[in-house]
Amino acid sequence: MVVYTPPMGWNTWNTFGLQINEKLILESARTMIDSGLRDAGYEYIVLDDGWSLPHRDENGRLVADPEKFPRGIGALADDLHAMGLKLGIYSCAGLMTCGGFPGSNSYEFEDAQTFASWKVDFLKYDYCYKPQHERGDQLYQRMAMALNNSGRDILLSACSWGADETEKWIRSTGAGCWRSTVDIVDSWESIKALAKRQRGLMGCNAIGCFNDMDMLVTGMNGNGNVGLAGCTDTQYKTHFALWAFLASTLMIGCDIRNMSEETARILKNPGLIAINQDRACRQPFSVGGSFNFACGDDEDSFVWARLLDGGDLAIGMFNLSDHPRNLYFTLNDLALPRFCGRKLELTDVWTGEVCQVGEGLHMAKVDGGDCRVYRAKLIRA
Ligand code: GAL
Repeated sequence: MVVYTPPMGWNTWNTFGLQINEKLILESARTMIDSGLRDAGYEYIVLDDGWSLPHRDENGRLVADPEKFPRGIGALADDLHAMGLKLGIYSCAGLMTCGGFPGSNSYEFEDAQTFASWKVDFLKYDYCYKPQHERGDQLYQRMAMALNNSGRDILLSACSWGADETEKWIRSTGAGCWRSTVDIVDSWESIKALAKRQRGLMGCNAIGCFNDMDMLVTGMNGNGNVGLAGCTDTQYKTHFALWAFLASTLMIGCDIRNMSEETARILKNPGLIAINQDRACRQPFSVGGSFNFACGDDEDSFVWARLLDGGDLAIGMFNLSDHPRNLYFTLNDLALPRFCGRKLELTDVWTGEVCQVGEGLHMAKVDGGDCRVYRAKLIRA
């Protein structure tokens, strides 16, 4: 299966941990539709760790916990498919999942067959309890081969947290996305740390296998399994903008059944989703910095651009510091010096405001934790 754009969906882990069940999944699926998230592009509903019984059956097959999923996974997949959604499930390349349930190590072909028979569409594949003598690349490769030979299109979402220099081998394995970060928690510190770590990995992200910066915490407000301090809506907005701009997978992690209007507005922002899903998936490059602070990217402010399919540009200014900064980009850094006879028309993806940049630089005062993201058109100067 070839993956052409970053996968989008909702995953149970951030809020519900191991406490998942069919009722929760169906209510969340219904919310995906009623809230417009499905129509905005979110299509996978992913059951993370905790869906199975702690032991395989007498034939060595994985079994869904009958208390949590009384009708089994296949019936749930049918329901989701009828709603225009897809079902994701979770297993592990090691002997057990991180939560202590059976892993798929040395059962790869059997489990892929089971998932295919349940009409699963997506497999998140973790890295806990990996036998030390086994190679990560081979374990992901074996599961990818098993899925590719299962008779069903099942996207392999690798989750080895960047361990063992995952970035050097993951594209050879057949995974469709890979966790390029450690686990997120619901705090601004965690968001900042993951974004900074991503700077060195932007060149790995391309069609076929996308960087996965971990599930979104937007809208968690300190609640649930990875709930911590929580963030302000401005920080959640910047978090979403960063993940979208960097073409990460977009997996919602809050309880969407109770999300606020502001959370829904952030998660459905059409301009950012279009940038995230841009067909070219070109690597971002640095085009400016913080005016009174430093030239070029510094630790806490990033100003990046991406060339989009069809000729537009995406330009993002991100202030991860705690204080307002004057962030800027220059036309020279965009390879558009004055003599080339073109200027930019910027549309702010949050406010819809339009402005033009004729020469030199564009500067904006961006509050601490805030961002600006523009879609830019080239027009005649
Ligand atoms: C971690 C993984 C999390 C979640 C958890 C389940 O290894 O990074 O996203 O899947 O395991 O136990």
